[in-house]
Amino acid sequence: MTQAPVNVTVTGAAGQIGYALLFRIASGQLLGPDTPVKLRLLEIPQAVKAAEGTALELEDGAFPLLAGIDIFDDAKQAFAGANVALLVGARPRTKGMERADLLEANGGIFKPQGEAINAGAADDIRVLVVGNPANTNALIAQSHAPDVPAERFTAMTRLDHNRAVAQLAKKLNAPVSEIKKLTIWGNHSASQYPDIFHAEVAGKNAAEAVNDEKWLAEEFIPRVAKRGAEIIEARGASSAASAANAAIDHIYNWVNGTPEGDWTSMAVPSDGSYGVPEGLISSFPVVCKDGKYEIVQGLEINEFSRGRIDASVNELAEEREAVKKLGLI
Ligand code: NAD
Ligand code: LMR
Repeated sequence: MTQAPVNVTVTGAAGQIGYALLFRIASGQLLGPDTPVKLRLLEIPQAVKAAEGTALELEDGAFPLLAGIDIFDDAKQAFAGANVALLVGARPRTKGMERADLLEANGGIFKPQGEAINAGAADDIRVLVVGNPANTNALIAQSHAPDVPAERFTAMTRLDHNRAVAQLAKKLNAPVSEIKKLTIWGNHSASQYPDIFHAEVAGKNAAEAVNDEKWLAEEFIPRVAKRGAEIIEARGASSAASAANAAIDHIYNWVNGTPEGDWTSMAVPSDGSYGVPEGLISSFPVVCKDGKYEIVQGLEINEFSRGRIDASVNELAEEREAVKKLGLI
């Protein structure tokens, strides 16, 4: 081991994403093969026993990088000293339920968690919100952590990004490794916009390679945007292993950088780029380097993209208004 353990707090540790996520963190896939981790698991009191069961299995993995596991039902304790916080615990959307219905149900969870992060997390804290509605939950947590730089609060659209890469690769009969510079804009919801106009396949423009606007508008975009619902319909439960995989990818790239010549998608507090109102936690193309991310600048946004980006961003603005009215921010 080459460095001191990094404290990783995971909420909702006894849930289905938690079960898929924790073993991969313990194996070193979140931060890299030289970084030992200490897991700090947060659950509601009724689920602490199940989290303890998962901790027994983690122990049985004999992971060389796993330097300890602590389990809490108190947010202040769970986030004390946290370097990375994965906010997964929330109520998953069930069949027929829209994300907006979840605002009120979940908002209450993220206010105390933001306060706890503010009170006790480490100075280099990085937060990823996975629990839905992820963008607005991140906004709630961030607004209750005034002492933490706002840009440390992010929400997950990497699953959408990965889904879009996979669908595009399939359409073009190309390996996923050849697809670069795809972007998810906006909200992690059915209004999101997967943009292939700047994407590349084997170094060539992907939109030109597809050359099929009907497929783009009527198949690709809805397929990616509604993939969460498709999984729920097929599995009878929301995506879990693919969501855990995306959370690993998001933090890994944030900490270790994005590959040269590519970018990824992260929902981050807007600085006004691309006309997205400042402060909204919206998905953008980002490049990560030296442990920081930056929104990719200077992309030309065509008319097809503009309307779709605006629609998703408007939904985020409406969610912000709704949680304001509920007194959650
Ligand atoms: P799950 O119901 O299996 O697990 C959620 C866990 O969170 C439960 O164990 C529950 O006890 C716990 N929990 C609830 N309130 C908590 C609190 N205040 N503190 C700590 N833990 C708490 O759900 P899941 O399938 O693991 O999904 C978790 C969330 O992730 C859901 O909101 C789901 O919609 C969301 N999700 C997001 C994405 C994305 O791409 N952003 C993808 C898939 C799922
Ligand atoms: C997903 O994208 O799979 C999740 O956000 C599930 C959902 O609630 O749509």
